Amino acid sequence: MATVIYHLPDGSSQSVEVPVGQSVMDGSVRNNLPGIVAECGGSCSCATCHVLLSSTANALFDPPTDEEAELVEFLEGATPESRLSCQLIVGGDADEIHVEVLDSDV
Ligand code: FES
Repeated sequence: MATVIYHLPDGSSQSVEVPVGQSVMDGSVRNNLPGIVAECGGSCSCATCHVLLSSTANALFDPPTDEEAELVEFLEGATPESRLSCQLIVGGDADEIHVEVLDSDV
């Protein structure tokens, strides 16, 4: 279990306990948090689960697959910190993970 802190588009933050093996997207969707739409349900094809992750937090996850990297490359507003939250599977090493959730219009 890891605590994922979602920094939401309105400036507030929400803390969610996400079990190991579930994704950062799962934690958001199950708690009805705003910003992560997850249209494709986590199959890495919609990119509506875009988040920003610091390099420290990024090191806690597997690097992006080619599929994820390609989707992110064409996202408007993508930065070097961009990841797709459905591909961020919580592992056993993290206690606390901070992610920045973007406005779903971006
Ligand atoms: S939920 Fe569709 S790409 Fe992540």
